[in-house]
Amino acid sequence: MNLATRAAFRQLTRVAAPRVSRTVAILARPAIISQLPRVAACNIAFSQTRGVKTMDFGGTKEVVYERSDYPPAKLQETFKNDTLAVLGYGPMGRGQALNLRDNKLNVILGSRKGASWDKAVSEGWVPGKNLFEINEACDRGTVIMNLLSDAAQSKLWNEIKPYLTKGKTLYFSHGFSVIYSDDTGVVPPKDIDVILVAPKGSGTTLRNLFLNGRGINGSVAVYQDVSGKAKERAVALGVGVGTGYLYETTFKQEVYSDLYGERGVLMGAIQGLFVAQYEVLRKKGHSPSEAFNETVEEATQSLYPLIGANGMDWMYANCSTTAQRGALDWWKRFHDASKPIFEELYESVANGTETRRSLTKNSAPNYRAELEAELAEIADHEMWRAGRAVRKLRPENQ
Ligand SMILES: NC(=O)c1ccc[n+]([C@@H]2O[C@H](COP(=O)([O-])OP(=O)(O)OC[C@H]3O[C@@H](n4cnc5c(N)ncnc54)[C@H](OP(=O)(O)O)[C@@H]3O)[C@@H](O)[C@H]2O)c1
Repeated sequence: MNLATRAAFRQLTRVAAPRVSRTVAILARPAIISQLPRVAACNIAFSQTRGVKTMDFGGTKEVVYERSDYPPAKLQETFKNDTLAVLGYGPMGRGQALNLRDNKLNVILGSRKGASWDKAVSEGWVPGKNLFEINEACDRGTVIMNLLSDAAQSKLWNEIKPYLTKGKTLYFSHGFSVIYSDDTGVVPPKDIDVILVAPKGSGTTLRNLFLNGRGINGSVAVYQDVSGKAKERAVALGVGVGTGYLYETTFKQEVYSDLYGERGVLMGAIQGLFVAQYEVLRKKGHSPSEAFNETVEEATQSLYPLIGANGMDWMYANCSTTAQRGALDWWKRFHDASKPIFEELYESVANGTETRRSLTKNSAPNYRAELEAELAEIADHEMWRAGRAVRKLRPENQ
């Protein structure tokens, strides 16, 4: 596939050199690579006429909301009578709270004492002023933004619920707690708005893109609309926490697609494919560096950024004819072999098996020890050990 890569780069620089060739160099930086799918997604929206709220995504029309229609002054007006209480200061709580603060909205934090509390203090949150214990923050807040870990949302529900009085809003970044209420026990009172904004990526990326004047994409949903303003407030909050544009979903669709995606191509399936390909190469006598380069390094450093920027259709059209023939012949075999597993996975998400497993495993007393053993198994696999050596050889790491 080296030929394919070279051909793709040649093609890219031929099409729009020198500007695009510089873009390729920039895209090759790891920090940027992690943001590529979102960048590409943003381009879909921005390439169409501003102000038009219905976009054509491959033939299906969908409503989208753009940050440009929600300037900070409008956000401040929308929430002028609100206190936004962000519960939790993990990656998502931190990213959203800091972005809200920078948008000059009235935001306070709720955290237990410990790592998150200390981090919040180190980043300028002041105990007794805008940093409180969780119940105190719930009492003071009019919008309760539940960004505790999903397990903690379930565990602390009975402490939070009494503060969810008429007129308040309950906000999530995951449909998990509400949709799997049989397992989590999270059933919101009927007389409050319940909304969701799910940034499509980690809270760290949300914060970093915001600081760079950019915005991750996210989804927005309404579970209960008592005020009649739930959608408008959800969209405004989505922009306030730092998203660049929002697409519509429901709590159920959000959690199903999220659990499915991370177990599939985003994390689970990709690790399985990497390892399978690597192991066959090693069994057939290829060296670890060759097996790693042909499996992971070329994918992440060369092809995936190009796919993120231009699509797989472009990639197929812009590689060597040898690579092209092979990819065209083999992709359907991989599709046919994996599709039954994806069907099984979706069913396992939809029937709650994945949620129950997650809640049970993540709240077990030996959780930390078991997790560390599982992570060590991956880290100790020869492929990722070889990867550490390969990454050290990248000129920028020397
Ligand atoms: N849509 C998306 O793409 C996306 C991406 C990431 C996250 N999310 C969602 O955002 C939410 C937060 O995610 P996260 O990654 O930031 O979560 P996290 O790192 O797992 O945890 C967040 C916070 O929960 C607190 N916490 C955990 N157990 C607690 C307990 N028993 N009592 C009190 N506080 C407790 C932690 O405090 P300590 O430091 O004291 O433990 C931390 O401040 C989740 O609903 C998650 O699913 C969505």
